[in-house]
Amino acid sequence: MVMLKNNPQLNRHGELTHLITTEGLPKDIMTHILDTASKFVPLADRDVKKVPLLRGKSVFNLFFENSTRTRTTFEIAANRLSADILNLNINASSTSKGESLLDTIANLSAMQADIFVVRHEASGAPYLIAQHVGPDIHVINAGDGRHAHPTQALLDMYTIRHFKKAFEGLTVAIVGDVMHSRVARSNIHALTTLGVSEVRAIGPLTLLPSGLEQMGVRPFTSMEEGLRDADVIIMLRLQNERMRGALLPSAHEYYKHFGLTEKKLAYAKPDALVMHPGPMNRGVEIASEVADGPHSVILNQVTFGIAVRMAVMSIVAGASE
Ligand code: CP
Repeated sequence: MVMLKNNPQLNRHGELTHLITTEGLPKDIMTHILDTASKFVPLADRDVKKVPLLRGKSVFNLFFENSTRTRTTFEIAANRLSADILNLNINASSTSKGESLLDTIANLSAMQADIFVVRHEASGAPYLIAQHVGPDIHVINAGDGRHAHPTQALLDMYTIRHFKKAFEGLTVAIVGDVMHSRVARSNIHALTTLGVSEVRAIGPLTLLPSGLEQMGVRPFTSMEEGLRDADVIIMLRLQNERMRGALLPSAHEYYKHFGLTEKKLAYAKPDALVMHPGPMNRGVEIASEVADGPHSVILNQVTFGIAVRMAVMSIVAGASE
């Protein structure tokens, strides 16, 4: 786990200059991001879906790990802000010839990048880059290893606030492979900072990390107990690529105990939201009738991700006003 000293995401004026993690991100900055995003949401209904806030700025999408939703919505968001966007093709880049990450970044910085959006399989890679770029370059973490996925957490917070209007009084249950999930970690920090009443984590003991209580989270190994009266359910994918050793008997057994079916959903409140960051494995962590059912806001999350990423980029670039 990367520990951030003196919150290097903020500049000396206390303004957001990089977005690396929701851990330690002040509540007023999170709220400012959500409020700014709400101004961008209506753009989607206009004929011309663009504003000139980042005209002349260059956004470099650096995805060292696969992505569908995050990479694409960052690209759409940068386009809607009128920025120039460059998607580095990592497989065709010189990293495959042994160039170090920091040398790649130094060369891209020399091409006058303004914002780096970085996804990397190594926890801490965006933080390392943020420590080495010049003062006018901003780094946004698009997911690093098991550490953090702050824009996913912020779009999840936007979705919850949109449908539930406030965070106070809510019970939010995060279900599944919490151990390997950067989304779970970032959501836990965001939910506790924004003041939800109760954050729960539900899963088999082998997939619940130690130290949850110290993070303000109640752990459960029973769906019936953990989902009881929940307002929001955030389902997680089994991160098989990050598991070492046999942590589960089988996907079938997992689905039987922890897969979200209509029967298990009935333990939660009648108006509970069902969320999932994607990619989703139907029949493993969630039943199709729930994923596509009336409680699901999974595709709303994706759409709100555009506005939230517009908000983050415009704020770090100092162009939100
Ligand atoms: N939620 C998420 O990070 O999805 P992608 O891996 O498709 O970007």
